[in-house]
Amino acid sequence: MAESRPAHDRPHDRDLARRLDALRAGRLATPREALALGRLVTAETRRIGRHALPDPVLDALADTANRHRGRDRFLDAFLDAVLARHRDRFRNAEYLALPLLEEFLRDTAFSPERLSALLLADVVRHESRHPGAVEPALRRKRVRQAMRFLGTVERSPADDTPPRTLAGDWLELTVLPVSTEHDEYFFIRALQAHELVFTTLTGLLRSATDEVRAARPDEATALLRRAASVFERASLLFRLVATMRPAAFHSFRRFTEGASAIQSEAYKRFELACGEPDPARLDSEAFAGVPAVRAEARHHDNLARALVDGPRSEVLDAAAADLEQAHQRWKTTHHSLAARMLGDATGSGYTAGVPYLAAYRENRLMVVRDRAA
Ligand code: HEM
Repeated sequence: MAESRPAHDRPHDRDLARRLDALRAGRLATPREALALGRLVTAETRRIGRHALPDPVLDALADTANRHRGRDRFLDAFLDAVLARHRDRFRNAEYLALPLLEEFLRDTAFSPERLSALLLADVVRHESRHPGAVEPALRRKRVRQAMRFLGTVERSPADDTPPRTLAGDWLELTVLPVSTEHDEYFFIRALQAHELVFTTLTGLLRSATDEVRAARPDEATALLRRAASVFERASLLFRLVATMRPAAFHSFRRFTEGASAIQSEAYKRFELACGEPDPARLDSEAFAGVPAVRAEARHHDNLARALVDGPRSEVLDAAAADLEQAHQRWKTTHHSLAARMLGDATGSGYTAGVPYLAAYRENRLMVVRDRAA
């Protein structure tokens, strides 16, 4: 419920402003001081929702961000996420704090795949920390879907908790909900994991393409089969997200306008690693939000092109066709999920919503285009 008093009059806000001042007076001289600021802001964000952070707090943080930029990569990425709406730059990457996840990957020996498992393990932990937040049957279902994802990643039990390093501590601060809805936490983790699944897939597709070019069809086939099994994780994420309560979704999507998975660079890179998107798609809203990836489109080799250029291999073609079908099934599930959750509403990425996803089902990955076109 909205309060009638001005934001800075609330005792919590005054307390936060005081603690922010104290931290700024300490000049964030050490990485641990920067982390303390991150923790303070995260706790407040989770208490009231990112959209409700009062302007004086956001102004103070913007000032801190400007003065400290370049000194602490984690803090920079964190504040870029928190301040995104304030700076009118709220998009998928900032909603999901993706640059902060990238800093984690850069700082640790984690692969995107291992990090995706760590995030899903965090979903399980989060649900067990809040046992009363969701009806027991739904909670069990949610945890089961997260565990199914975890079961597909080779890992040791130690991999399920963040490393006890500075990067591991910052990882705990990569869920910055816009609302106070319990369900938004796991939704954010699912979308972050989606980015990592597609990063993993792009790596596999590029390696498979190299193997085809090197005339090693068996190696390429093995990589594509692995890609098809990794792809199943993307479908598991939909089953997980299907446990979201529509009322919760509608409550927080009021504040996510402008951020959409249509801006996912990881997903679009996967598309380019597979084949050559139709020029109409490249020029459409689908690629409008990912100009950097769109610019790569002409220069990248891709699996479909390598398959056309190379000697025929039935097994290899079949493995590519399996991946195509997995992607088709995935889009069908996405469409049904969106139809159930969204109905007639437009997408947060400003498309028509469900009609956009319906049309997108016609698109295919493993195609080559006439280069003269
Ligand atoms: C409540 C759940 C969801 C709804 C209602 C939904 C809805 C939509 C809509 C309407 C779009 C079109 C772009 C826009 O206007 O925003 C879209 C795009 C997209 N969504 Fe979802 N989505 C949901 C969950 C997910 C999940 C869990 C994933 C990943 C696991 C995902 C991945 C994508 C991708 C990759 C695109 C871009 C498709 C393209 O490039 O053409 N979505 N979604």
